[in-house]
Amino acid sequence: MAGTRDTALPKGFRSAELGWPELRRIPHPPYRVPLIGDAVGTNLRTPLQDSLRVGRRLGPIFRRKGFGKEIVFVWGAELTGELADESRFAKHVGLGVANLRPVAGDGLFTAYNHEPNWQLAHDVLAPGFSREAMEGYHAMMLGVAARLTGHWDSEQAAGRAVDVPGDMTKLTLETIARTGFGHDFDSFERARPHPFVTAMVGALSYAQRLNVVPAPVAPVLMRRAGLRNRADVAYLNRTVDAVVETRRHGPAGDGDLLDRMLETAHPETGERLTPENVRRQVITFLIAGHETTSGALSFALHHLARHPEIAARARAEVDRVWGDTAEPAYDQVARLRYVRRVLDESLRLWPTAPAFAREARQDTVLGGVHPMRRGAWALVLMPLLHRDPDAWGPDTERFDPDRFEPAAVRARPAHTFKPFGTGARACIGRQFALHEATLVLGLLLRRYELLPDPAYRLRVAERLTLMPEGLTLNLRRRSPAQAVAPEVPEAREAPSASRCPVTGAGE
Ligand code: HEM
Repeated sequence: MAGTRDTALPKGFRSAELGWPELRRIPHPPYRVPLIGDAVGTNLRTPLQDSLRVGRRLGPIFRRKGFGKEIVFVWGAELTGELADESRFAKHVGLGVANLRPVAGDGLFTAYNHEPNWQLAHDVLAPGFSREAMEGYHAMMLGVAARLTGHWDSEQAAGRAVDVPGDMTKLTLETIARTGFGHDFDSFERARPHPFVTAMVGALSYAQRLNVVPAPVAPVLMRRAGLRNRADVAYLNRTVDAVVETRRHGPAGDGDLLDRMLETAHPETGERLTPENVRRQVITFLIAGHETTSGALSFALHHLARHPEIAARARAEVDRVWGDTAEPAYDQVARLRYVRRVLDESLRLWPTAPAFAREARQDTVLGGVHPMRRGAWALVLMPLLHRDPDAWGPDTERFDPDRFEPAAVRARPAHTFKPFGTGARACIGRQFALHEATLVLGLLLRRYELLPDPAYRLRVAERLTLMPEGLTLNLRRRSPAQAVAPEVPEAREAPSASRCPVTGAGE
């Protein structure tokens, strides 16, 4: 389990020179400039992709400095394997994650390892991601997906291209709001986003900008943005409090996450989440539970549209496994093995939560050469880890779902594919996201041919998560006869969805 027993380390940003006594052994870009450091030429809109470019040149461990703050980055499969060792390292709440504390406090994602509410909320909420709970969410996910296809049908009939990231974000937000809290933001029915969504996007963008605006000038440069952020956070709190109040005094939900938060006591201690913490968790799930999945779906649709032969293979699987059933059953989703590989391969190239930070539990030596003091930390860059030629071979830019065939997965070293993070603090919503995304890809492949805009070149937008910017697709409806083919027995593979969704996540 995460280090709830660890004594607290100092909070706030800890620059690398405080924790890495032999920092000079780690390469950094040439031409360091006083004060600005390595930030010359950095594009404030794409800091992650800048680090990927630098990392490719400098190797599996490197550092960058800007305005007095220095960060160690790691992406080599071997070093990441060490950082994933829970006996030596734990999640580090710093940088982008810490910037979300004013919004999400000690909610699951942003809690410090030593905060008691992490373990309490984890234990109370983990059953909300069990197989039984997921089966309960399936019908709600189908309901939201039907709103998406209704919208896409009318766009297609009107001869318009669809806005993929925009519509996937509506879909995933509605899904988590519905399954989590019985709430509906009417995203598909509104001409403009719900004010809650605007406030949430505002708060996320503010946290993202704090990552890149130099601390000495932030109070001046971001004064007005800071005021707006305070108003956004206050609005988020008020709205969530109203949803919770209605539930407390009204009828129970249908076994959703909010019911669990309000009604479940810790199985051993009998403790319950406080109202303040319930608010933090609701906001956490709304934030953590939608943009990441929406990006994953959007990248997958981009690749499917660009690779008609892969789309045809995936579509043939959907037709075979689902046959003419009007709505696929829960079990029929996990049987879409190839569609799931398409998703995994999309998350390999563009893991939508692209980095996670790990800190040393005790003084240690990374890779046998880099001493780290207790609390020193490094940021793992997943897009490079997922392209490490030592683990993935020479052609890592090629989109190839067969990399996730069971035999190929077994042949790779552990800890080379980490889109859901690692260890005790890995993604609690992993099975939720995979079920939702596989279901939706299956439904879309069954209903439409995806026609790319030949002029589109992939641009990756960086918010707190990654998203294919400006991606639109044209659609062609498939005739029902095309969509239905008799089911034939599939090749047998190890079941993929039966593991514990929480403790084994990300491994
Ligand atoms: C494709 C979709 C998703 C991706 C790529 C993703 C990725 C991640 C990653 C990398 C982490 C670890 C972050 C760190 O170590 O700092 C994480 C944590 C988390 N995720 Fe996800 N996530 C996804 C979907 C979801 C969904 C759907 C939910 C909720 C329903 C969710 C809820 C959370 C929470 C609560 C945590 C914090 C867990 C803890 O620290 O105990 N995520 N996610």
